[in-house]
Amino acid sequence: MSKRVWVPVVGAFGVLVLIQLWPVERANPPVTAEIAAPPEVMEVLRVACYDCHSNETRWPWYGYVAPVSWLVAHDVNEAREELNFSEWGLLSAEDAAELREEVWEEVEEGEMPLRKYVWLHPEARLSREQRQVLQMWSGAGEQEEH
Ligand code: HEC
Repeated sequence: MSKRVWVPVVGAFGVLVLIQLWPVERANPPVTAEIAAPPEVMEVLRVACYDCHSNETRWPWYGYVAPVSWLVAHDVNEAREELNFSEWGLLSAEDAAELREEVWEEVEEGEMPLRKYVWLHPEARLSREQRQVLQMWSGAGEQEEH
């Protein structure tokens, strides 16, 4: 092969190495007000949602390799902003009830957990029983956890 072929290959490799130096925030802040839901609900949330919607993210190995690490960190930050089960207790009863309904809506529509996540974490593919658990919980009405 001629030299011309190798120049871009080496260049691209160099860029990949260099971007690893860009720091990525992968913090797990303390869990201050975790949601209190029945054990069967917690089980589903933990297996399918907690990596993004809690302060207990299990950062995956691919989350350490740029540029994928940037995408993972971005998703987690955005997800925590929308819904954080580690800080659920800070919500008003009204907001909590609303968010609970939204949880089921997202799951029912197949929006959550994110498809790319399920692809990499097959255990997060919810069975019919697991979905039912969330549905019942979301419609559980006004009985608050506190
Ligand atoms: C791989 C990360 C990831 C996982 C896993 C995940 N989510 Fe999300 N979720 C996000 C991101 C990112 C957003 C914000 C952007 C969006 O709405 O797509 C979000 C938004 C949401 C919202 C707010 C939607 C809105 O539009 O206001 C709800 C509710 C939600 N997720 C529920 C869940 C539930 C329930 C699970 C588990 C069954 C789950 N998510 C799993 C990343 C994730």
